[in-house]
Amino acid sequence: MNVLGIETSCDETAAAVVVDGVDLRSNVIASQAELHSRHGGIVPELASRQHIQAILPVLHAAVEDAAIPWSGIDAVAVTNGPGLAGSLIVGLNAAKGLAASLGVPMIGVNHLEGHVRAAWLAEGNPEGNPEGNTNGNADLGTEPPFPLMCLIVSGGHTELVLMRGETDYELVGATRDDAAGEAFDKSARILGLPYPGGPEISRVARAVPDTKPLPRAWIPGTHDFSFSGLKTALLRRAEEAGIVDEPASEASEEKIAGLSHELQESIVDVLVRKANAAADEYGCNAIILAGGVAANRRLRQVLTAEATVSVFIPPPILCTDNGAMIAAAAYPRLIRGEASDYELDVDPGLRIGAAA
Ligand code: KG4
Ligand code: ZN
Repeated sequence: MNVLGIETSCDETAAAVVVDGVDLRSNVIASQAELHSRHGGIVPELASRQHIQAILPVLHAAVEDAAIPWSGIDAVAVTNGPGLAGSLIVGLNAAKGLAASLGVPMIGVNHLEGHVRAAWLAEGNPEGNPEGNTNGNADLGTEPPFPLMCLIVSGGHTELVLMRGETDYELVGATRDDAAGEAFDKSARILGLPYPGGPEISRVARAVPDTKPLPRAWIPGTHDFSFSGLKTALLRRAEEAGIVDEPASEASEEKIAGLSHELQESIVDVLVRKANAAADEYGCNAIILAGGVAANRRLRQVLTAEATVSVFIPPPILCTDNGAMIAAAAYPRLIRGEASDYELDVDPGLRIGAAA
């Protein structure tokens, strides 16, 4: 089954063709990061307008790259939430028009389910490079074995979701304030680093002697997270170090590197320990690490090293937003005959695995 996946929930206009939920035939991503970085963060109206400009060229490129004719597309999958309403609408309307003209089913996909399903894409790096290895410390080509603990870490979400079987999701932990990606992005801003902050923090992070560790919020007895205190602690330390709104110097660069390192260590430590504890409590056979923050090299390394079960991590390009994960998530639903009708609306607050 050839599924065209469309993703426009945030600041990436993306489309991809995936065969049978695993075989990636094309993956086209038009990023708006540069546009938004000029404003220090995402400007929703600019994002919607940029999606309008990019959507048709991206769709054409995805089908052309896949070397499959339009008549060979069997279904159209599209993110209908969570995300920015104005951005989601662009992808959803494109999907409706396309599905109607091709005479194929259209299905709305939960963006977070998409992030998780990226772990099913057979895109492992044969050289076993941890940067590009689909399956962490699991065998390449193996499907993740249920029950699974999914750690979803993105710009807007930090969630632990138990997966007992195909499309069976149960939320067991979530952030009470900021998401991990948000903590990276807001901290980067404090340190004068550009948007998006996660990759920047990771790029400049370096252990600097005598830099004290930043706090970790454990919230004992729960699988929940909290990252807003960490951001406030970093702000205080940055102010003490005199690096807020100051011109760059060699000394400030060293302090920024040290604080970036401590921030990353703190986030990674909490994420890894809490994912392991949840996997243990629910007797899981493996952990899936998913979402944009899963592109973080340190997080990938520490989770792979410390997990007592197999770890599945998509390659970085499939961790950040893309259309392939949406096509992959649609597949198990489509083969069961699920589809959406044309009444389908966007749902900016759509949740995963939670009782309605
Ligand atoms: O999943 P995603 O691409 O978009 C959302 O659904 O939000 O996640 C974006 C988030 C941003 O907060 C970005 O800073 C973070 O993922 N991110 C990273 C890295 N790459 C992206 N955070 C830490 N290290 C990275 N290498
Ligand atoms: Zn995402």
